[in-house]
Amino acid sequence: MTTVLFRGVALLLVLQVYAVRNCHRGCRCEVESFGLFDSFSLTKVDCSGVGPSASATPIPIPLDTAHLDLSSNAIAAISTSMLSGPGYTTLVSLDLSSNLIVRVGNDAFSRLRYLETLDLSQNALEELTDGCFSGLPLSEVDLSDNRLGELRLSVFSAKGQGRPLSVDLSNNLLTSVTTGPPGNLPNIQSLTLVGNRLQKVPNLRGVALRYLSLDSNPITSIEEDAFWGLGDLVHLSLSSLSELTAIWPGAYHELRSLQVLDLSKNPQLTSLDPEVFSGLVSLQELNLSHSGIDFLPNNIVNHLPSLRSVSLRANVHCWKAYKQGQFHRQLGQAKSDEVLTCDITGIIL
Ligand SMILES: *[C@@H]1O[C@H](CO)[C@@H](O)[C@H](O)[C@H]1NC(C)=O
Repeated sequence: MTTVLFRGVALLLVLQVYAVRNCHRGCRCEVESFGLFDSFSLTKVDCSGVGPSASATPIPIPLDTAHLDLSSNAIAAISTSMLSGPGYTTLVSLDLSSNLIVRVGNDAFSRLRYLETLDLSQNALEELTDGCFSGLPLSEVDLSDNRLGELRLSVFSAKGQGRPLSVDLSNNLLTSVTTGPPGNLPNIQSLTLVGNRLQKVPNLRGVALRYLSLDSNPITSIEEDAFWGLGDLVHLSLSSLSELTAIWPGAYHELRSLQVLDLSKNPQLTSLDPEVFSGLVSLQELNLSHSGIDFLPNNIVNHLPSLRSVSLRANVHCWKAYKQGQFHRQLGQAKSDEVLTCDITGIIL
């Protein structure tokens, strides 16, 4: 009986994939439909590796395309005309990774009013024009492996005010329509800036970020309030910062939602004042492996009430435990009976 029921459910949810006719030469177009009576469908167009023809005129794509992959096409500049035309206005995700993009025209993405995911990784971007991401409901942006020396908040904000929403979306197969956040505040939840030329933490004040990675940048120090205004951040990656020598007390004190902090592979980071961790009330995981920090002060737990594990050196793991014989504590009391224990001794000072 259960199996029959299970099969029935599986049948309803089965994903149907079929190819689209009139797909541009060299691209692969697929419609995925799912749900009861195929009530939802998504068109995916993969034009990766089509060649330089991709950058001339817009590649014709089916009218209701949601995902477009233009990666690995030797595209050098993004212009408005390249990303306009039927089918483009409904894009929810766009992959432009592994091209040769040096420049993004400031209106290049302006027609992509439903764009939530943008991948510009592995290009040659040196600078982004103010407003180039404005008015887009972006939630995930990947700018890894470019040559960005800075990222100004103004790339996300409009020059004028929000654009009028005048797109006709009738007779489409859209499964969801998201509008941008009110005002000019970007709604980006995930931002990846790995492998750029940032020398300091960019000011992202007020962005609703939940995930941020600044790995492999030439950042030398992290100042007090560097992450000011990022109270929603859950995961922060600051790994492989080969020039990082100092993190100042108060650097993280706004990050009350942060659960994971990755400080691994920072060999020049040799000491950390426990005050550095003040404010990290939700932090569960701290990664200091392959960093210059080999020992931990025990009072670190006073600042990190939610801490579960710390990784250190090459393969040392520490976790929070209660001092023997003191298993109960009253709610709201200082957790002075909690200590850090590691799988080898001599780590905790
Ligand atoms: C800590 O960082 C190292 C190096 O980046 C990584 O290999 C490891 O998986 C991380 N550990 C945890 C617990 O995330």
